[in-house]
Amino acid sequence: MKIVVTGGKGMLGRTLVRRLASRHEVVAIDYQECDITDARATHACLAQLRPQVVIHGAAHTQVDKCESEVERAYAINAVGSANVAMAAERVGARVIAISTDYVFRGDGERAYHEWDAPAPRTVYGASKLAGEDAVRRHCRDHVVARIAWLYGPGGPSFVHTMLKFGAQAGDPLKVVDDQVGNPTSTDAVADGLLHLIEHPLVGTVHLTCEGDATWFAFTKAIFAAARLTRGIVPCTTAEYPRPAPRPANSRLDKMALRIHRLPAMPHWQETLERFLREHPGL
Ligand SMILES: NC(=O)c1ccc[n+]([C@@H]2O[C@H](COP(=O)([O-])OP(=O)(O)OC[C@H]3O[C@@H](n4cnc5c(N)ncnc54)[C@H](OP(=O)(O)O)[C@@H]3O)[C@@H](O)[C@H]2O)c1
Repeated sequence: MKIVVTGGKGMLGRTLVRRLASRHEVVAIDYQECDITDARATHACLAQLRPQVVIHGAAHTQVDKCESEVERAYAINAVGSANVAMAAERVGARVIAISTDYVFRGDGERAYHEWDAPAPRTVYGASKLAGEDAVRRHCRDHVVARIAWLYGPGGPSFVHTMLKFGAQAGDPLKVVDDQVGNPTSTDAVADGLLHLIEHPLVGTVHLTCEGDATWFAFTKAIFAAARLTRGIVPCTTAEYPRPAPRPANSRLDKMALRIHRLPAMPHWQETLERFLREHPGL
């Protein structure tokens, strides 16, 4: 199949281009090739490339910046997604749009499944939800694939930050221990998308790794796998106020994968160990 990846130079996009190319013809586009906030340019780009599938990863992903760049966040995440979805529909392509746990309120007790009601608390989450809605409205053959706590080759990611700090001498690092989520590698997302591409489902799918951890537990696992000895101590979210509130509960249940009999996502711990083994230079 011919697949276009928007946000092709981003952290997820780079992995998708590398891993999907073994089975498909993959064309990466980014800001330079096509500004997705420009409807005409987006239509022209997809009309010229004529893909069968568009994996839409382009986004304004800086969660804190989105709070002060509200218009830019909606231009890229909401309008950009609508433009991609409309242009894909016009050339008869399927859209697989990448979204986020930030569409949820993040204060529930259990993991959120695909049919739970979104209630974003941040500009980033609200603009991504507007993008999800636009994709559902404008492209009949669509999948919204939600991911979270992402890391991948080249970063930037929490794993990269912690490896850098962990290698420096100094006082024990304070790491938040009251937020829980599913650490997920771009490789695991790529494998999940490879299955989705070949499945006819239309709807919303969660694609995070199995198992959960707090940022503190995640850091412990990173340091153990990388044999870093710097100390870490748990702290609370309240000790690190940020412009955009962070969800206490980012866990995503993979109910849609089970219902559609799609392969389960791998566990985050084995995925992390594999990532650190396979990407020593990161
Ligand atoms: N990282 C995470 O933890 C995480 C978690 C949940 C969901 N997601 C979602 O996963 C997807 C990929 O995330 P990522 O971490 O790989 O993000 P990323 O590295 O920031 O990549 C996003 C890409 O989108 C491009 N882009 C931004 N505005 C654009 C525009 N107007 N037109 C065309 N391209 C534009 C960016 O190009 P420039 O660099 O040139 O601006 C960048 O290459 C996003 O949809 C994000 O919302 C990420």
